[in-house]
Amino acid sequence: MAQIGIDKMSFFSPHQYIDMTELANARNEEPGKYLIGIGQTQQAVVPPTQDVVTMAVNAADQILTPAEREEIDTIIFATESGIDNSKSAAVYAQRLLGLSPYARTIEMKQACYAGTYGLMQARDYVALHPGAKVLVMASDIARYGLHTPGEVTQGAGAVAMLVTENPRILTINRDNQFMSRDVMDFWRPVYAEEALVDGKYSAEVYREFFRDLWARYKEKTGLAIDDFKAFAFHLPFTKMGLKALRDILPEADEAKQALLLTEFEASRVYNKRIGNLYTGSVYLSLYSLLENSTTLTAGDRLGIFSYGSGAEGEFYSVELQPNFRDGLVTGQMDQLFDSREYMTIPDYEENFMAGLHGATDREFDITKDPAKFVLAGLKDQQRVYLAH
Ligand code: COA
Repeated sequence: MAQIGIDKMSFFSPHQYIDMTELANARNEEPGKYLIGIGQTQQAVVPPTQDVVTMAVNAADQILTPAEREEIDTIIFATESGIDNSKSAAVYAQRLLGLSPYARTIEMKQACYAGTYGLMQARDYVALHPGAKVLVMASDIARYGLHTPGEVTQGAGAVAMLVTENPRILTINRDNQFMSRDVMDFWRPVYAEEALVDGKYSAEVYREFFRDLWARYKEKTGLAIDDFKAFAFHLPFTKMGLKALRDILPEADEAKQALLLTEFEASRVYNKRIGNLYTGSVYLSLYSLLENSTTLTAGDRLGIFSYGSGAEGEFYSVELQPNFRDGLVTGQMDQLFDSREYMTIPDYEENFMAGLHGATDREFDITKDPAKFVLAGLKDQQRVYLAH
């Protein structure tokens, strides 16, 4: 069977951020708690002119050639902060990106897990349809509310991945282990804009799922920790992945433990500065690992752990391809971090209440948003998207 996986990958996050030391000071917390205990240093802040649709297309637009825009016949949009309870965000993305009309479009939801399901659907579809190309986007705004324990773990952004045969970045091995269980650790009823969360419980269930799936994976495949060069975890906050990794580290000798911890640091460089992006989080961590690790080479096996509250988890492995960095957008992250605008905590609090709440027509000032695709406002209860 053909080798299938991620051919190209791109990321987008809004142009504003806050500093976690300043947020800690404003919330009467020790900065060390946010910076080390939670593992976050900065947090992306979403202006009213960005939503999950614009973030996803801002990411995808940077990797698609004109030919690919014609060839893609399946568009999968994973999100848990969607803009419509009926219409799929993938249809907006199809129009804004100029993709072929002869494409399937669908939105998927299972908390932070849905991007992984989308990726596996894409892989299986390409396996059955040789030559097919699938666009998978995972885009979210993580919003817990001002003065809540979850506030330090907010964030926003989107990852776009093109899934094809003979991919540039990595192939996806057919070794997936997954599980689901009805758990009330995090949910967002249709009437609520902010998630309801039992934060400590969600962190416990995350670890339980990881340990369970890791044991099952080893049993089914006969592989062990030494077969892995590195792991990428879902990182709602970066300490979460460290806790999971530490749960299995005793299985390795001291030298291997040190190597895995070094790779873990590479895998959280970007997440520390963006925050949570729900569905895209584990793939931002993968992106971070691919760009920041100094030791990865072709043929390396990486373990991916995806978790979505509610709850569903999946563990699988991927194999790095020669020249895997060619599938990433060179300089994309440096440019984002170099040009991001610092925001004060009072400005962030004011911004938190701005945006599209309610059904009244309005226009946003799009001149301050440097992104190509923006949300210009609401007219007759329809979101107005522009490219500028
Ligand atoms: N220096 C270093 N570390 C410090 C510290 C300091 N000055 N003060 C506290 N810490 C550590 C704590 O020891 C703790 O570490 P541990 O988890 O390894 O024990 C960590 O900082 C967090 O402190 P805690 O008091 O547990 O934080 P909290 O009660 O505010 O809750 C979350 C933290 C993650 C539960 C909360 O942010 C949340 O609900 N987040 C959203 C839900 C979520 O992301 N769930 C993840 C699974 S999907």
